[in-house]
Amino acid sequence: MEPFVSRVCLSLLWLFSGVSPGLCSLTEQQRGLSLNGKWRLSNSNGSLKLPAEVPGCVHSALQQQGYIPNPYFRFNDVSYRWIALDNWTYTTIFTVPVQLRLKQKVLLVFDGVDTVASISLNGVSVAKTDNMFRRYRLSVGDLLRDGDNMLEVSFLSPVTFASEQRKAHSSYRVPPECPPDVQKGECHVNFIRKMQSSFSWDWGPSFPTIGLWKGVRLEAFDVLQLVQLSSLPLYNSSCSQWRLQVELIVEAAQTTHGQVRLSVPDLASEQTLEAQFLPGRRKYNFTLYISQRAQIKLWWPSGHGNQPFYRLTVSGFQDGLLVLSTESKVFFRTVELVQEPITGSPGLSFYFRINGKPVFLKGSNWIPAHSFQDQVTPDILKNLLRSAVDANMNALRVWGGGVYEQDLFYDLCDEMGIMVWQDFMFACAMYPTEDGFLQTVRKEVIQQVQRLKSHPSIIIWSGNNENEAALATDWFNIPTSQRPTYVKDYVELYVNNIKLIVQEEDQSRPFLVSSPTNGAESEHEGWVAANPYDPHYGDVHFYSYSLDCWDWKTFPRTRFASEYGFQSWPSFSTLEPVSVQEDWHYGSNFTSHRQHHEGGNQQMLQQAALHFILPNSTDPLKRFTHTLYITQVMQAQCVKTQTEFYRRSRSEITEGKGRTMGALYWQLNDIWQAPSWSSVEFGGKWKMLHYFAQSFFSSVLPVGFEDDDMLSIYAVSDLSHDLRLRAVVTVHSWADLDPVCRLTSAVILVPGGSAVAVYQRNTAALLAGCGRCSRSSCLLTFHLEDSDGNQQGPSNHHFLCSPKDAQGLQKPNITAKVQEDGGGFTVTLRSAAVAPFVWLDVGSIPGRFGSNGFLMVTRNKTVEFAAWRPTSVAELSTSLTVTSLTDVY
Ligand SMILES: *[C@@H]1O[C@H](CO)[C@@H](O)[C@H](O)[C@H]1NC(C)=O
Ligand SMILES: *[C@@H]1O[C@H](CO)[C@@H](O)[C@H](O)[C@H]1NC(C)=O
Ligand SMILES: *[C@@H]1O[C@H](CO)[C@@H](O)[C@H](O)[C@H]1NC(C)=O
Ligand SMILES: *[C@@H]1O[C@H](CO)[C@@H](O)[C@H](O)[C@H]1NC(C)=O
Ligand SMILES: *[C@@H]1O[C@H](CO)[C@@H](O)[C@H](O)[C@H]1NC(C)=O
Ligand SMILES: *[C@@H]1O[C@H](CO)[C@@H](O)[C@H](O)[C@H]1NC(C)=O
Ligand SMILES: *[C@@H]1O[C@H](CO)[C@@H](O)[C@H](O)[C@H]1NC(C)=O
Ligand SMILES: *[C@@H]1O[C@H](CO)[C@@H](O)[C@H](O)[C@H]1NC(C)=O
Repeated sequence: MEPFVSRVCLSLLWLFSGVSPGLCSLTEQQRGLSLNGKWRLSNSNGSLKLPAEVPGCVHSALQQQGYIPNPYFRFNDVSYRWIALDNWTYTTIFTVPVQLRLKQKVLLVFDGVDTVASISLNGVSVAKTDNMFRRYRLSVGDLLRDGDNMLEVSFLSPVTFASEQRKAHSSYRVPPECPPDVQKGECHVNFIRKMQSSFSWDWGPSFPTIGLWKGVRLEAFDVLQLVQLSSLPLYNSSCSQWRLQVELIVEAAQTTHGQVRLSVPDLASEQTLEAQFLPGRRKYNFTLYISQRAQIKLWWPSGHGNQPFYRLTVSGFQDGLLVLSTESKVFFRTVELVQEPITGSPGLSFYFRINGKPVFLKGSNWIPAHSFQDQVTPDILKNLLRSAVDANMNALRVWGGGVYEQDLFYDLCDEMGIMVWQDFMFACAMYPTEDGFLQTVRKEVIQQVQRLKSHPSIIIWSGNNENEAALATDWFNIPTSQRPTYVKDYVELYVNNIKLIVQEEDQSRPFLVSSPTNGAESEHEGWVAANPYDPHYGDVHFYSYSLDCWDWKTFPRTRFASEYGFQSWPSFSTLEPVSVQEDWHYGSNFTSHRQHHEGGNQQMLQQAALHFILPNSTDPLKRFTHTLYITQVMQAQCVKTQTEFYRRSRSEITEGKGRTMGALYWQLNDIWQAPSWSSVEFGGKWKMLHYFAQSFFSSVLPVGFEDDDMLSIYAVSDLSHDLRLRAVVTVHSWADLDPVCRLTSAVILVPGGSAVAVYQRNTAALLAGCGRCSRSSCLLTFHLEDSDGNQQGPSNHHFLCSPKDAQGLQKPNITAKVQEDGGGFTVTLRSAAVAPFVWLDVGSIPGRFGSNGFLMVTRNKTVEFAAWRPTSVAELSTSLTVTSLTDVY
């Protein structure tokens, strides 16, 4: 089905007395007056005066007008620190049509002000703002004039504001005071309601933005106006009936009686209700019972079904005249977070049931896609979310140190079947609880929940990122005697305020206070558990850089892994535009500057050195690009091992642990060109990890591992139906492209939604049976097939030794030929030897390979390339490089 209303119409507003508009037929004048576009911008001493786009920010304006180069170039985050330390003023002059000015109510609406500002209209102060995550609606009717009107928004430096707030909070400190030096960031970000990572993070630069980051407009009406429409489908299982809780936020100029008609035409459900709208902005809720005879098509996560929707129309009448008319999409689905005792295990389960079906969450964590949010285009969002579903992800966690994403993000998640774990924007810190702070947070939470709750993609609200853990495991050296103060603040903010508001606004989905948390057990322990990382409860975040990531025994067998990961460097083509030649070695100032995680660059090499020979080319540029490659190989292999461990643990309880039902690695995307835990680089290029994710998240997956010399192959299935599968294991010699031998297991029943062992054998016996093989001379590939011999799921591999110790591994001398094939391109490879981690790279030509980073155990292989802009065989052939493990030394 095509969307019935364009997005522009849906996101705009809506209602005007006396006219009977179809939503899309409104003219700009009827709707109000947009104040977006070119404003004037100046700094505090007037030395800089320039045009600035709204929506936008100071950094973007300075760059667009040529005052500064690309802020992401080399060390510019530090060079241009002064921008956020200055105060800035945005001004615009506009005229207002008389018919708009003469309306009963005229409102000046700011969809987003970043962050601390005084707003004045024609010299009269109309508001002070302090929260980037709020919309501000200001009544300004009397202040508008005939002729020119002047609107001025004066911003105080967010860094100055945060520091002043800190000083005012003198009774006790609210840690952390400052980020670690390696992040080169600003202090006290927890004192300002702003994207927390904008003062720097361990994967991102410090760019405390300033500006009008969302739209500004005038809205005018005589009788009433619809501010927000939301709808929550609720299911009553005792009578198998759906009802739609429809909420209208209406601003009325005067008391108005009328009728409201709710209708879902495709479900033959309609209801007309009497309504009385009182002056001011208020919330009105209505319930539409859906006919029990209706066959409702449910919304499902990607991989579990489709994402159908219905059209809800809402009309308001006064004296028979249509005064309000709008429509929106409605998606029906239920979600439960199941925390109940498990036989044979202490603790509680922790998994999501969607439409009654347990669903394993596969995916990663989402961070802001840009430091300058005005530069996040629809294409960037689409490409990243498409990359997520194409890698067989069905879930993303919108992490609490960024922003509540724009509407389009959630619209796309709805359409693509991506489940969203939505954090509130608090991360890795203690927070103050003064009255002013709580008041602005309360407004933020109400507005964001009202804006987002109609999206079926959001399956859970979560109060903060890691703040329970920070308190429980004392990240900030809080003296024991003072701990109760911090616990009290914690409970006040997340439980007594945020949780209560969310549960009042939205009974349709679960709320967790933190992540990681023990969930029900944390609540039992007064909201701060002794060990929020307890694998028997809730979700777990786990990182270790020094332990060998090829050893699955180092990973906690959690109920739900919501964060884990390893860093890597992005590819050379991503770094090249923001660096110069002297930066291109692993020991350069640039390489250390971009690394915001203490010791990160060394950790990557140490982890890689456990299994790989490190690059040692005498050509410095080759050595650098090879090092970038080896960090990606390391990361891909580490996250693969850990994720496969979680997926094969979904059905088992071992030593009281297991029944894992979620694997969300850290992190999907990048905010700039730098080393990080991401699987997609800034600009959208897939790292090796993302290609691996496409396999390790596939619905049916063979997983191989060893436990005390016993080799097991598990079949993991997220399907709804049962399969009958056997494992086919092929033993290869590192020295020879012809396989050594092949073993086949019996056919085993693999129930839908399970992980079962299909093959188990002592490794030494397996190798002895195969002849000519030892751990260091051979490796295994394997796949699953049904009884008709059809392969199910991808092929996988298991190394019996580290590739650095592999006997007989040779330089494969891979040759590649690019061809045009119908609309797309193919690369045909020929290899002279077994080649691990074969990596195709076409530099800065944007696009995606059909597979990449693969193990080549055949002489020939053809890989597709989908280009995102026009290109040619010649251009691709010139740009293409093929690297495999032995090419780097
Ligand atoms: C005005 O402010 C700019 C930016 O902060 C600064 O570089 C400049 O020195 C200031 N000029 C004067 C005259 O104070
Ligand atoms: C910004 O404004 C604040 C408050 O008025 C003032 O204290 C501070 O000095 C100003 N900063 C600059 C760079 O002018
Ligand atoms: C659910 O249906 C039952 C049986 O018809 C009814 O008693 C109950 O009130 C309904 N619950 C809600 C929340 O509507
Ligand atoms: C409206 O919401 C309130 C609480 O938010 C609830 O008590 C009431 O039952 C709701 N009314 C309808 C018609 O859903
Ligand atoms: C690297 O940074 C250090 C310290 O900031 C500086 O002294 C040195 O000159 C820089 N080296 C180069 C090559 O830029
Ligand atoms: C790859 O080429 C090198 C140099 O020509 C040669 O020594 C080597 O044997 C080749 N590798 C294979 C597997 O044929
Ligand atoms: C591999 O490709 C070469 C050259 O295109 C061809 O001669 C050969 O038959 C192919 N081998 C296999 C096993 O497909
Ligand atoms: C790099 O290391 C490999 C393997 O240890 C070795 O064979 C090769 O000679 C080394 N190359 C250089 C340039 O040091």
